[in-house]
Amino acid sequence: MADPRVTIVGATGAVGTVALEVLAQRGFPMSRLRLTASRRSVGRELAFAGENIPVEDTTPEVFDESDIAFISATDEISRDMAIAARERGCVTIDDSGVWRMDPEVPLVVPEINADDVDGHKGILSIPNCSTTPLAMVLDALRSEAGIERVVASTYQSVTGTGSAALVELEEQTRSVLEGGEAAAEQYPHQIAFNLLPHIGSLRENGYYSEEAKMLNETRKILHEPDLPVSTTCVRVPVRVSHSEAVHVAFDRPVGVARARELLAAYPGIVVVDDPANAAYPMPIDGADRDEVFVGRIREDTALENGLALWLVCDNLRKGAATNAVQIAEEIVKRGAWLR
Ligand code: A2P
Repeated sequence: MADPRVTIVGATGAVGTVALEVLAQRGFPMSRLRLTASRRSVGRELAFAGENIPVEDTTPEVFDESDIAFISATDEISRDMAIAARERGCVTIDDSGVWRMDPEVPLVVPEINADDVDGHKGILSIPNCSTTPLAMVLDALRSEAGIERVVASTYQSVTGTGSAALVELEEQTRSVLEGGEAAAEQYPHQIAFNLLPHIGSLRENGYYSEEAKMLNETRKILHEPDLPVSTTCVRVPVRVSHSEAVHVAFDRPVGVARARELLAAYPGIVVVDDPANAAYPMPIDGADRDEVFVGRIREDTALENGLALWLVCDNLRKGAATNAVQIAEEIVKRGAWLR
């Protein structure tokens, strides 16, 4: 089989540009690479492996000559283009929330449920950038004891919103330091020198949609449809990397030492846990890395058989682009593309 022809839709965006880097770094086998974005970007070129590749308009015809497409643009583009790609024989790996909970769409973190790739019908999804590291940590620990409940609070960087939000954080920070106004467009309030307990749209039960995603997606990836999960998702003025305070109750004791062993042995997780020497994961250290970093592992003082821990994960890499490329690698390994 020839190497697949690959298209990145949203190639100029926060995740798309990282996807380009990840494809190059992992030496992903490709016979052709096409890059698309909005019409605004047509005429731009992006560098890949020493070549300049032109950015094209995002049209269905692009998929006539593509085998695998990564989509990270807008919800509307994900909705329309994943279908257009499938009709043209191209498999989509989608970064939006549009497809994730569709029963026909595998939602995959390869370390956890790579075999779900086999059932795909042309569209696969990567989880929300906060769900992926949480699900990996839970998967590592559930090999020792059943999980009874999960409570997590997130501290999510602005690049989870996109590149315009990073510009807004930087501009607001500069403006506030100079005594000026903090103009807010990407968020309902100032994000510089602040934080917002609000990610996504409000649901009837008082949770925002990001929190609902963490519940539903974690259950789907782990194949635990009744797992109780409650989260509070918070946007913080950090450039890259999401952090999470996680509290897990098990059906029997796990113990800190055993938890540390299980997490350290899990592919893609690194334990950084020496609090006496102020060593714990931080977003600035997790940025530009593919691993999920875990520390502050301790007995939970409020939950029976509970553990508390802290994790950090680059939301653009393992939280998005790296996970998507790993799924593509699974598709290639399994010969599971459509043509
Ligand atoms: P463009 O750079 O041309 O606006 P981010 O998540 O960083 O905001 O990036 C969003 C990505 O989605 C960018 O690559 C952006 O392209 C792309 N995009 C936004 N709107 C459209 C659209 N209507 N059609 C195709 N791509 C789009």
